[in-house]
Amino acid sequence: MKDIIDVELKTRTVDISKCKTDMLAVGLFSDAKGLDKLNAQLNSKLDGAIERLIKLGDFKAKEGTSTIVYGNDGISAKRIMLVGLGEKKKSRLDTIRKAASNAAKKSVEMKIETISLALHKAFGGRFDLSAMGRAAAEGAYFGSYRYDEFVTESENGRADSLKVEVIDSDSAKTRALNRGFLSGIAIGKAQSYARTLANRPANVISPPELAAAAKELGRSSKNLNCTVFDEKQMAAKGMGGVLAVGSGSQNKPRFIILKYNPDSKSASRLPTIGLVGKAITFDSGGISIKPAANMEQMKLDKSGGIAVLATMKALAELKLPVNVYGIIPSAENLPSGSSYRPGDIITTYSGKTVEVQNTDAEGRMILCDGLSYAVKQKCDIVIDVATLTGACMVALGKYKAGLMGNNNNLIKQLQKASEDSGEKVWHMPSGEEYAKEMKSKITDLKNIGSKWGGACTAAAFLRQFVGETKWAHLDIAGMDIFSTPNEYTSEGSTGFGVRLLTTYLMNLTSKKT
Ligand code: BES
Ligand code: MN
Ligand code: ZN
Repeated sequence: MKDIIDVELKTRTVDISKCKTDMLAVGLFSDAKGLDKLNAQLNSKLDGAIERLIKLGDFKAKEGTSTIVYGNDGISAKRIMLVGLGEKKKSRLDTIRKAASNAAKKSVEMKIETISLALHKAFGGRFDLSAMGRAAAEGAYFGSYRYDEFVTESENGRADSLKVEVIDSDSAKTRALNRGFLSGIAIGKAQSYARTLANRPANVISPPELAAAAKELGRSSKNLNCTVFDEKQMAAKGMGGVLAVGSGSQNKPRFIILKYNPDSKSASRLPTIGLVGKAITFDSGGISIKPAANMEQMKLDKSGGIAVLATMKALAELKLPVNVYGIIPSAENLPSGSSYRPGDIITTYSGKTVEVQNTDAEGRMILCDGLSYAVKQKCDIVIDVATLTGACMVALGKYKAGLMGNNNNLIKQLQKASEDSGEKVWHMPSGEEYAKEMKSKITDLKNIGSKWGGACTAAAFLRQFVGETKWAHLDIAGMDIFSTPNEYTSEGSTGFGVRLLTTYLMNLTSKKT
């Protein structure tokens, strides 16, 4: 097994036309009247090549597009990559993140080893330089990532590492870029960590192995503490939901808790946050088995739990002054003689009873125990993240995650974090009407609702386990599962949620970028 690509990032003060590099990436807006200062300067050194290319209509600078112009004696870069930024008035921080992703992805495909990003120059003073540095670093990780640790044939190979530098000719600007850059590196690295864990299949990573990864993370920082309950400890505590879902597999379930304790005393003034993530290492549906087509994608049903794990990693690296629990119930949902069945009555950790009507609605069965645990730890705010329902994908497609909750302020804060991080969410309901559908005649709740509004009824079920605690739920089913490669990144897990949750926590502590 080989390591995923190693990304080395730094900022550097250098005269852009004198920058020796394999690839110099610059940005252009599609609605720009002429070339901006930097592009005009490059264009004249390249004997008008950029202008000719644009005049011919070969490059329109649309978002997600890029093209390459080759260097000459007048310039130290071997290649200049023109990266499309789309319309200037529509540009956001995510525009630079995507541009950096695009440049990094192309560079890995071309087996280029050093790229120099001057993408921020096109934006002028539109965004804070530090925030741009952060977005560029996150984008460089996102775009260069590919999951190939099991590829042994070199035909489709790549360099072992990609060196990325963000450059400016003004040292004050480089310093400003570098401030956000360091956060971007921590977040980008955490997101790639999440993607690799999520992409690993169920024969490589089972609940005990996920717990071992969490333990290892716990050991990597003095601010992190990891506790794992095995099936016996869960039984002693009455975590009936996780145990029921895990009962069909030889790979026993685990209940993983990471606690982040900041050094800073000021953290006591902030609310304690509980992040709860669904980690089903494989979801076959259990006795209510799924159809065969695309079932392999259900190795990604642990993505929510892994997003939580990776957020804890980012948190420890960023040293944020806030108390956070990462709670990750993990099980494998398989059919066997020992599986839980439709009709079974399960007593959950909260004491509430649930009638199982479909063993494929297993996410809520494990999350309810995770949510109760967070509430029992006196978390002031609880946010869960889960690949919970196909219905959420039907509703929102693959572009936005469902966001539900019981507190308007928390919803607003998550919407702001979404805007800042480029990981998109859409607010959906989960109140009274939906909750009514989850009532059972013979128990407190049943685990499925009617045919309609499945993402909302699932959220309404979860809502019953948080009481008065402020709570939000992210249904990320469409974000990782069935992902196809695009201009910004490769196929497989996208690590969705890591940027969103980390940004939410950063905003809370008002640590700037
Ligand atoms: N992990 C799935 C949700 C899912 C399905 C994610 C397809 C991505 C693509 C979840 O455990 C599940 O099976 N949900 C059921 C719920 C139903 C039985 C109420 C679903 O969505 O069909
Ligand atoms: Mn399922
Ligand atoms: Zn599932």
